[in-house]
Amino acid sequence: MNDQAQSLRRLVSTLEESSSTQASKSRSARIITVSSGKGGVGKSNFTLNFALALKTLGRKVLIFDADIGMANIDVLMGARPRYNLYHLLKGERSIEEIVELGAFGLPFIAGGSGMADLFTLSESDLNYFTSQIEGISEQMDFIIFDTGAGLSKETVKFITAADECLVVTTPEPTAITDAYALIKVVHGMDQDVAFRLVINRVANKQEAQQVTDKISLVARRFLDMEVPLLGHIHDDPHVMQAVKKQVPFSTAFPSCVAARDIQRLAIKYLEVPQIGQKDTLTGIKGFMHRWLKRTR
Ligand SMILES: Nc1ncnc2c1ncn2[C@@H]1O[C@H](COP(=O)(O)OP(=O)(O)O)[C@@H](O)[C@H]1O
Ligand SMILES: [Mg+2]
Repeated sequence: MNDQAQSLRRLVSTLEESSSTQASKSRSARIITVSSGKGGVGKSNFTLNFALALKTLGRKVLIFDADIGMANIDVLMGARPRYNLYHLLKGERSIEEIVELGAFGLPFIAGGSGMADLFTLSESDLNYFTSQIEGISEQMDFIIFDTGAGLSKETVKFITAADECLVVTTPEPTAITDAYALIKVVHGMDQDVAFRLVINRVANKQEAQQVTDKISLVARRFLDMEVPLLGHIHDDPHVMQAVKKQVPFSTAFPSCVAARDIQRLAIKYLEVPQIGQKDTLTGIKGFMHRWLKRTR
């Protein structure tokens, strides 16, 4: 066994031990990934406005911009992050320093160029990252990862490590088939990942149900799994207008149809019993544990 594998095993078993101690019974954020098969379907807008809606409902939410290629949560809020994950990974900054406060004091971490480095960390850097991310997790109810579209190895690792995955798609046939492909590949790697659908840019509620039925039918037949609908967001020109203003649409146009949809969806999200990873390690410890096992 090489050094790196050995140190990884040590870290994994530390996480397992500490999760059974009293300290870990303290609160730990639920880890959600927002993903899609196809790009440009509205993941980042959904992540941002969903997080704001949960915040309005009294929950503590942190956004982690984990889209390696096209990170842009900051742009959608008109924020200019000083630091990103890179500075944390290099040990140059603490987690408090890399967490930026965006619209309405919504905390977020800009992934930036650090994301690629996350996969090649030394043991001491990895320990530092794990302890820092656990620290912040105790102060949050939800950590939402906005992942890249599609099936890169990194994205799939994030999804399988999280407590659940919200899959965003539009009613376009290409977006639907790509969403299904994502679910299929992730499910093939880890049958415990729970998915829920967010159907974006619909003309009406029926259309959202039709898209859900299409995905559910194949998922049931070929994967023997359920992919329930979490909610839908109407196609609404206010979204693009808000993007141009670099203000979240639910803030810029609080009574527009998309903003009301997001609000309804967030309320439903909090109402439905939380599903997710069946193993005992949930929250950030479970996330790091599963993620590390897949990474090395
Ligand atoms: N509900 C919606 N109604 C109208 N346009 C939308 C909606 N959601 C997203 N869009 C458009 O799609 C673009 C891409 O959205 P974005 O959230 O950046 O997608 P992704 O993160 O999946 O690449 C937005 O800039 C906006 O113009
Ligand atoms: Mg995006």
